[in-house]
Amino acid sequence: MTNSLSTTRLQLAAPTPEDALAVLAIAGDPRAVEHNPSDLLADLTEAQDLVGRWIRHWRDRGFGYWCVREVGRPRVVGYCGLKASTANGLSVLNLIYRFTPEVWGRGYATEAATAAIAWGTAHQPSTPVLARVRPDNVSSQNVALKVGLLRDHGMDDEGEDGQDLAYTNRPRTEWVQLELPTDIALPTSPALPAGVSLASIAELGDTEQLRRRVYELNKECAADIPGRGEFFSYDEYIQRRFAADGYQPDGIILALDGAALVGLCVISHVPGREWAFIEMTGDRRSHRRRGLATALKISAIRQARGWGVSTVRTIHHRGNNPIITANRMLGFLDTSFTLNLDTPPSGVTGPSIKP
Ligand SMILES: CC(C)(COP(=O)(O)OP(=O)(O)OC[C@H]1O[C@@H](n2cnc3c(N)ncnc32)[C@H](O)[C@@H]1OP(=O)(O)O)[C@@H](O)C(=O)NCCC(=O)NCCS
Repeated sequence: MTNSLSTTRLQLAAPTPEDALAVLAIAGDPRAVEHNPSDLLADLTEAQDLVGRWIRHWRDRGFGYWCVREVGRPRVVGYCGLKASTANGLSVLNLIYRFTPEVWGRGYATEAATAAIAWGTAHQPSTPVLARVRPDNVSSQNVALKVGLLRDHGMDDEGEDGQDLAYTNRPRTEWVQLELPTDIALPTSPALPAGVSLASIAELGDTEQLRRRVYELNKECAADIPGRGEFFSYDEYIQRRFAADGYQPDGIILALDGAALVGLCVISHVPGREWAFIEMTGDRRSHRRRGLATALKISAIRQARGWGVSTVRTIHHRGNNPIITANRMLGFLDTSFTLNLDTPPSGVTGPSIKP
């Protein structure tokens, strides 16, 4: 049992019933629960109930939330710790940290949470740590990142106060990484659906109007990607897609049905790299299962050959069977390469974040 932990500036101790008043001073302060109003404590009875639950968790599990004091000072300035929980059917250690506003800005949450995660990693190595943070709570999101957790879109969930963003340290096995050598013999491209033609942005002209239409199409298709979460704003999209190092006007291949955009495949390539990356393939629901994505991808792979790259890479959420199957049918094989998975890889990620 780890009743207490020490960090450079803080002492973390398992709670006792006497801590209820201090806990009320913290979670009874609306500023400290601004983003999670359901955690607001109304009175001492509620605080005693809460601390009682923490003590029971310690008794049952041998770990839990610690009350945090500055070294050498008796006052409890915050609490931080791990609670055994289940999320998306997975056992997790739910990380929380909350401090009185008087000590904000000193890095105490980061210091305490670092110690809590180190405890979790040492004593429950197979149970991932999960922090759930409200979308507007940017400082708490920063703490989660600073203590080494990564955004984990697949674990996002509805909380008591609305949508929570998940940050975890679980292994990123939910992503499938695929690779195709460009010298492979590609299958014959399927016949395009009647009335549909393919053209790249290089051919159509890179205009603001077309970028907006590409954005709308990408957004519509990305809504069907498992784990994708909220799509980028138009400005973010432009930054990541068109202002990124790997942007190639002949690497955005569009499918047009008459004048309407119905599909796209985006392949990026940073000059000098031996590989290109398929960022996104998608088509309107009305046009699926007619070989269109396959035709778009074949066109993109041919483009990559033209750039002289030896390999095309892509990465997908494990739950995205349609695209994984479509890729495997083209000859893509499972592989492993290092990526920064802080940002969801499917749907639109600038190649600048990829090594
Ligand atoms: C994934 C997606 C691009 C496939 O587009 P599509 O035009 O329907 O694909 P194709 O018609 O070329 O299908 C090729 C093969 O993929 C597989 N496939 C496609 N959709 C499938 C589905 N819903 N279920 C199972 N397999 C599927 C099939 O093997 C299919 O061949 P078949 O129709 O001969 O059986 C489309 O569903 C889509 O836009 N999804 C949303 C966006 C997305 O997830 N993009 C990938 C992330 S970047």
